[in-house]
Amino acid sequence: MALKPDDRSGERTSRLARRAALVTGAARGIGQATALALAEAGAHVVVADITDVTQTVEAIIEAGGQAVAMSVDVSQEQSVTTMFRTIDERFGRLDILVNCAGVIDEKPLLQTTVKEFDRVLAVNLRGTFLVGREAIRLMSRNDGGRVVLIASDLAHLGRETFSSYVASKHGVLGLARSWAMEFAPSILVNALCPGPVDTEMLGAGNMSSEWRERELDIPLHRFGRPDEVAAMAVFLAGPSAGFITGQGIGVNGGSVMP
Ligand SMILES: NC(=O)c1ccc[n+]([C@@H]2O[C@H](COP(=O)([O-])OP(=O)(O)OC[C@H]3O[C@@H](n4cnc5c(N)ncnc54)[C@H](O)[C@@H]3O)[C@@H](O)[C@H]2O)c1
Repeated sequence: MALKPDDRSGERTSRLARRAALVTGAARGIGQATALALAEAGAHVVVADITDVTQTVEAIIEAGGQAVAMSVDVSQEQSVTTMFRTIDERFGRLDILVNCAGVIDEKPLLQTTVKEFDRVLAVNLRGTFLVGREAIRLMSRNDGGRVVLIASDLAHLGRETFSSYVASKHGVLGLARSWAMEFAPSILVNALCPGPVDTEMLGAGNMSSEWRERELDIPLHRFGRPDEVAAMAVFLAGPSAGFITGQGIGVNGGSVMP
């Protein structure tokens, strides 16, 4: 189904009606909550992940929204370009990107191998570059768009034993700021910088219990919820955020006040 740029008749009832949106990392966590929230706001959502996204797609359709599943490894150029070719064929446009795919690695520097460092950078930074580049290519062909990258509060900080992740998120914020300048005024680019959010990324296996406890030492003394980050992504994708670009926006319980 091709979405026509000037056919936005549903806009009065749904903020993002007739918009085509892509969310990566949408199988769970922040990406899943963002896909649900964009669909609730009326967007037709491409739900993409390296793992199965059936649960997300079914939840959107059950709630009366529109979604299509796609498989992608954001770190691989061919996988990303194949996904965008499919998006172009199906929708003929892309209005909104929220790039949530990401991985974390808690590792002291002196035990970090090149392979481990490269994996974090490949998913978090190269993946953002690849998905962002192809999204902006498609948006540039039409009438602009909104790009929301997911950095972290650690884009503003250093943190021992997480240096690969921290470096990747500093990079993501750098991409957002640079792309915002390069593609203004038609494409607005921002990065969300979440604090600790209650997802599998902060769970056992990904993060030690010691760090989980230290994460709670923030002014609001709780983890954020995925839907609280998703709400900001939807706002940035919508008509009220037309004067916001190049920002790293904290949704962080006060963890960082840059
Ligand atoms: N949870 C937090 O506290 C927190 C804080 C700040 C930033 N973030 C960022 O938010 C984003 C979402 O994290 P989350 O907490 O929902 O984590 P999560 O682990 O629950 O979800 C990450 C998703 O990314 C997908 N993914 C991983 N590698 C991929 C690849 N190569 N290609 C495609 N998809 C891939 C996973 O399958 C998963 O569905 C990440 O970029 C993360 O760095 C999370």
